[in-house]
Amino acid sequence: MNIEQVRIIDFPKIEDSRGNLSFLEESKHIPFEIKRTYWIYDVPGGQVRGGHAFKEQKELIIALSGSFDIIIDDGKEKKIYSLNRSYYGLYIPATLWREMVNFSTNSLALVISSTQYTESDYIRSYDEFLKYKNL
Ligand code: TYD
Repeated sequence: MNIEQVRIIDFPKIEDSRGNLSFLEESKHIPFEIKRTYWIYDVPGGQVRGGHAFKEQKELIIALSGSFDIIIDDGKEKKIYSLNRSYYGLYIPATLWREMVNFSTNSLALVISSTQYTESDYIRSYDEFLKYKNL
C-alpha cells in the first residue's frame, strides 16, 4: 500500500546568526529524478488546492513559507500532514488522492515533481480514482 511510502524528508539546515540556510540535492534527498518544479502562492483563505491523484507523478512538497495541511488518501485510509517549516518536505508517491488545505497568509508551497506537466496523468474524479485503485 503506497500510503505507507508517504514520508517526511528532512533537508540539511545550516544555522547561522545571519539566518538559516537549507538545500536539497536530487541524488541525496529526492527519491526520483526531478523533471519540474512549480509553486503555489497567494492562496486566498479557505481555498483548497489539489483534489486529484496522479497515475505516474511523484512529488515532494515543501512549505517554503507559512503553513498548510496535506490530506493524503489511498481510497481506504487518510493521513494528514501539517507542513510549516522550510527544512523538510513531504514525499508523495503516485496514485494517492491529495488535498492541500488550511493555507496560512503568505504561504508558499514548492512542489518538486518527477514528471513534466501532463494533464492525462491526472485523475480528477474521486470515483475514477477508486476505480483506478480497484476499490
Ligand atoms: P492543478 O495541478 O490542478 O493545481 P492544484 O493541484 O494546485 O490545485 O493545476 C492548476 C492549473 O494549472 C491547471 O489548469 C493545469 C495548470 N498547470 C500547468 O499548466 N502546469 C503545471 O506544471 C501545473 C502544476 C499546473
